[in-house]
Amino acid sequence: MTHSAGAFPGGVCLSGTGMSVPQRVVTNAELAQRIDTSDAWITQRTGIRSRHLVEEGTTVRHLAIDAVRAALEDASLAADELDFLMVATLTPEMCCPATATRVTAEIGATPAGAMDLSAACSGFVYGMNLAAALVQTGQYRHVAVIGAEVLSSIVDWNDRRTCVLFGDGAGAAILSACPDKNRGCLHQSMASDGGSWKMLYCPRTEADLPPDANGFTGAYETLQMNGREVYKFAVSTLLETIRQCVRDAGITLDDVAMVIPHQSNQRILESTREKLGLPPERFYTNIERYGNTSAASVPICLDEIRKAGRLHPGDLVLMVGLGGGLTWAASLWRL
Ligand code: ACO
Repeated sequence: MTHSAGAFPGGVCLSGTGMSVPQRVVTNAELAQRIDTSDAWITQRTGIRSRHLVEEGTTVRHLAIDAVRAALEDASLAADELDFLMVATLTPEMCCPATATRVTAEIGATPAGAMDLSAACSGFVYGMNLAAALVQTGQYRHVAVIGAEVLSSIVDWNDRRTCVLFGDGAGAAILSACPDKNRGCLHQSMASDGGSWKMLYCPRTEADLPPDANGFTGAYETLQMNGREVYKFAVSTLLETIRQCVRDAGITLDDVAMVIPHQSNQRILESTREKLGLPPERFYTNIERYGNTSAASVPICLDEIRKAGRLHPGDLVLMVGLGGGLTWAASLWRL
């Protein structure tokens, strides 16, 4: 489903962004000391050179708190001015309570509404779309959207096909009501295909395995991924989601100052950028330094781009997420 913002009464501005990554940087060479891989293989196949991984005791809540505090400071906003806070994550601390409620309490935003959002790598973009709608209706003034992951806690460190891809981190955005109705989410889409769930899943027990998983040799409670199928899905979906969003919004890609795609694999990103005919400076990538941080990848990019002074009032920015579920989403903003 795709939607344009014509019916909404108010404008929305991106009033602040922030990010947080663990201090520990793990290079490909370090991984190669622990598992049967090499810097050359990882770099060539994925474009990843290093990732940040948490130390024992750090959870997704800690990263989310650091990221949202940075975003609040950037927005010059006190935590108790927040009306709502979402944490998009596939690695919540617990299934109950939502990580978001504890983040809200610890930053001093109680009694703001709080919930976790489970849409895997699309989670932050889903969150931006939902938050934009909350603010555009005029019912909420300030909403925090956080994408945060500790993927190192759910990768199988004996599975070299998956563990080299992922990293830990968090990014956050504060959306605020503003009088200028031209600012905000101009167009959005959110989609899913649950029939293809087994391309990427995290089984808790045998009961969660797909019917054709005879002789499952993986580890429970770790990510199971069909890399080739996910690759094919990502290449076609990323391209088509961007094209469709631009088409449905009635603009052209030339109008877009920056495309921020989910950071899945440099080869996926590069082939999409080339097909779109975009120069590298308008199609942001940083997977080289962080790996795939799932729901955190788009907000980390957004914060880096803003803090580098590469976005200006009035610019069009297109964020695109895709991943497990399967899910995919686009969010087109006029800043
Ligand atoms: N180091 C060394 N060799 C490896 C490694 C590794 N880390 N992993 C796999 N290999 C080997 C395989 O065993 C295989 O060897 P074989 O030919 O002797 O059997 C060979 O490399 C090729 O393996 P493939 O799986 O075919 O490699 P491919 O080129 O498909 O790359 C990859 C694998 C990088 C996982 C790719 O499929 C991919 O990026 N898929 C998308 C994954 C993704 O983005 N997931 C994120 C979650 S969803 C999302 O973000 C959209």
